[in-house]
Amino acid sequence: MAKLPVKKLLVTGGAGFLGSHLCERLLAAGHDVLCVDNFFTGGKANIEHLLKHPRFELMRHDITFPLYVEVDEIYNLACPASPVHYQFDPVQTTKTSVHGAINMLGLAKRVKARILQASTSEVYGDPEIHPQSEGYWGRVNPVGPRSCYDEGKRCAETLFFDYWRQHSVRIKVARIFNTYGPRMHPNDGRVVSNFIVQALRGEDITVYGDGRQTRSFCYVDDLVEALIQLMDTADDFTGPINIGNPREFTILELTEEVMRLTGTNSKIVFRPLPADDPRQRQPDIALAESMLGWRPTTELAQGLERTIRYFQQAL
Ligand SMILES: NC(=O)c1ccc[n+]([C@@H]2O[C@H](COP(=O)([O-])OP(=O)(O)OC[C@H]3O[C@@H](n4cnc5c(N)ncnc54)[C@H](O)[C@@H]3O)[C@@H](O)[C@H]2O)c1
Repeated sequence: MAKLPVKKLLVTGGAGFLGSHLCERLLAAGHDVLCVDNFFTGGKANIEHLLKHPRFELMRHDITFPLYVEVDEIYNLACPASPVHYQFDPVQTTKTSVHGAINMLGLAKRVKARILQASTSEVYGDPEIHPQSEGYWGRVNPVGPRSCYDEGKRCAETLFFDYWRQHSVRIKVARIFNTYGPRMHPNDGRVVSNFIVQALRGEDITVYGDGRQTRSFCYVDDLVEALIQLMDTADDFTGPINIGNPREFTILELTEEVMRLTGTNSKIVFRPLPADDPRQRQPDIALAESMLGWRPTTELAQGLERTIRYFQQAL
């Protein structure tokens, strides 16, 4: 079999939850990987097992500052992703999305690299249509506590498309929906990690609202596979493209599954919904299915079991 050419790849946010899995997979595919991270929410523990790998390099750097490196492809994942973290320093969150995008697009332009943006389903805001397809422009509050993230990511998408139109930079924009798996932060307030941590500690399980709001959950391995496939699409395919699991669960169904799999004695307690929290979020992945031939294959119970095993060791 012919050997694939080794590519030099940059993963920003590579020490984070998704980034660390992506670095792992890209190394396994035989590429050189440069991981850039400022360790705001990521940590060396996530990539410790990669540090001695001869094709892996780690650089502490904040992408709100320019970066000069030679690479063939850039996966731009750097950005705090959970409300607790992105609302901690909202100005820095917007800077990371916007200045970070400008710096990484500038780099892609200089070295003629392909560049993929980890965008988000949050660009759809609190949507009026379900499921959300890529043609939907969204319903986002520009002045609320979540705006630093939602609008930051929307502006990053704008920049990607302007660099594509104006400078012919080869871009790929992935709109990522809720993803879970090992190496999620235990205290980031995201629903899957929250429930698992509370269940394993025997604490009350906090459900916001009445628990009938729905979410779809994509296992990290499925997501990473889609990002790599997206990067490999022809130059004329830019996205945006939804990547997520269309199977919807109510928050209460998720709670029950976590309680069953952990065997916890925890009780469920209900709390008011936070501001701008969407009632329903479900990706339409028809484009991913037709363009990438991709759809998620990991069942919720299977993904939750792996994630629970991770938290049992990590806690
Ligand atoms: N996990 C999800 O469900 C999800 C959903 C939609 C979009 N995304 C996007 O995917 C990307 C990765 O998310 P994640 O869940 O792995 O989050 P994460 O917080 O675990 O990872 C983000 C990484 O970026 C780093 N970082 C933050 N600001 C930086 C900066 N200015 N310079 C350099 N590094 C910086 C952090 O230290 C961390 O390692 C984010 O861009 C996020 O918006 C994630």
